[in-house]
Amino acid sequence: MDGFDLVVRGGTLATAAEVFEADIGIRDGRIAALGHGLGRGREEISAKGMIVTPGGLDSHCHLEEMGQDGSLHEESFASGSAAALAGGTTAFICFLPQWKGHSLAASAPGYEARAARSRADYSFHQIITDPTPEVMQKEVPALVARGIRSLKVFLTYDPLRLTDAEFLEVLAAAKRLGAFVTVHCENFDAIGWRIQALLKAGLTDPLQHAWSRPPVVEREATHRAIALAELVDQPIQVFHVSCEEAAAEIARAKGRGLKVWGETCPQYFTLDHDDLTGADFAGAKAVCSPALREKGENARIWRRIQDGTLDVVTSDHCGFSFATQKRVAGGSAYGTGAAVQRPDGTPAFNAIPNGVPGIETRLPVLFSEGVSKGRIDLPTFVRLSSANAAALFGLTGRKGSLAPGADADLVLWDPDAERVIRNAALHHAIDYTPWEGMVVKGWPSVTIRRGEVAVRDGEVLAQPGSGRFLARGPYALARPRGVVPDGFDAALA
Ligand code: URP
Ligand code: ZN
Ligand code: ZN
Repeated sequence: MDGFDLVVRGGTLATAAEVFEADIGIRDGRIAALGHGLGRGREEISAKGMIVTPGGLDSHCHLEEMGQDGSLHEESFASGSAAALAGGTTAFICFLPQWKGHSLAASAPGYEARAARSRADYSFHQIITDPTPEVMQKEVPALVARGIRSLKVFLTYDPLRLTDAEFLEVLAAAKRLGAFVTVHCENFDAIGWRIQALLKAGLTDPLQHAWSRPPVVEREATHRAIALAELVDQPIQVFHVSCEEAAAEIARAKGRGLKVWGETCPQYFTLDHDDLTGADFAGAKAVCSPALREKGENARIWRRIQDGTLDVVTSDHCGFSFATQKRVAGGSAYGTGAAVQRPDGTPAFNAIPNGVPGIETRLPVLFSEGVSKGRIDLPTFVRLSSANAAALFGLTGRKGSLAPGADADLVLWDPDAERVIRNAALHHAIDYTPWEGMVVKGWPSVTIRRGEVAVRDGEVLAQPGSGRFLARGPYALARPRGVVPDGFDAALA
């Protein structure tokens, strides 16, 4: 047999199941062998003293999204993927938009061509905002046939949200097609009602974003989403869980044997209401939905990570800069209600674009707060950062694995490296990070994507356009359980 293209030698390997010492031999972009004393490669990298994990898979990030209202995420695929790779993420799944009243084909034209500029491997979830028969019976099947096998629905946000009847249509279509459904769970009407009352009372600061959507609105929608998915018998993942109340609904569903999974993000286990305050409108930087919670909630989210209720940690990266978007009154698909401008020109809380940038910091923050602080072990880190997302989205065997045959996506972590997170040193195009000044222990020193060194010591070597689209075929996890009320399957009738 020929030699290896690359050998990563002498590292401590961490997989979803175990930690062990081995060399990794790479050929043609794939892992070819694991073992001790492997033969020489054309290129060799010493991983002595390093922890080697599979490359991160960020299954929830927003890049270069264009809203129907003209809003635009400033993060391009070239900059966002550079940031992803620098933070140890070698593949991500972002979102094909659908504009209400438009077909999928007519929404956000050119999006897939822009995505082809990515330096990391990528796939898409299709957002469904308008599940007309034409969309669900013609366009979605064609999409699934192209390997885009997951749909995202929103139960809130004016321009995006689905009614329960529409959500049921999406669940039923997904079931028929073997697609997976992800859900943003917040109660639209309850939030709108609270927003109106807060604005009437003259309460317009960024902190009131959290007051407009307290945990109960997330808990109610999580419960409802799970109940409707059970009715249809369709597997779902609840996106960006921010609080114990919603997590408890997922735990209960899992306990009942339903195919329900939970996702959270670093903002929900590191930030809180304090981050929504601060001079000069700084709280806008931390506005995201679901909202940050009160002090104490971080610890409860950690407990739900530890007990396996929350399966995946994603970034939910959003490309809204502070100076040009968050601080400026205006519309955004990710705001709720009419934009109200305050006397100083800043927007009322409900018009601040929702979402925080975190595609580069996701894994260093998880590694530091999780592994370095002893909250989780290395296999759990691997499951949360890549392996579970690979299983949920049909990429097992290719991503999130160090087994022979998998794509050679690796991260060499220096577990002792201490860094202070500074926006100036990050690779994204956004003018702030909510983790500015945070001290982290553990940093990716080399990122390898399909056998090529993509980042070394912070320098991004992978070129725009070198990422590959990941088409996803049928997979077991997305299959229904085969249990419907009264034995009558309304989705197939
Ligand atoms: O605040 C958030 N999460 N913005 C991004 C859109 C979404 O809800 O995922
Ligand atoms: Zn969402
Ligand atoms: Zn999102």
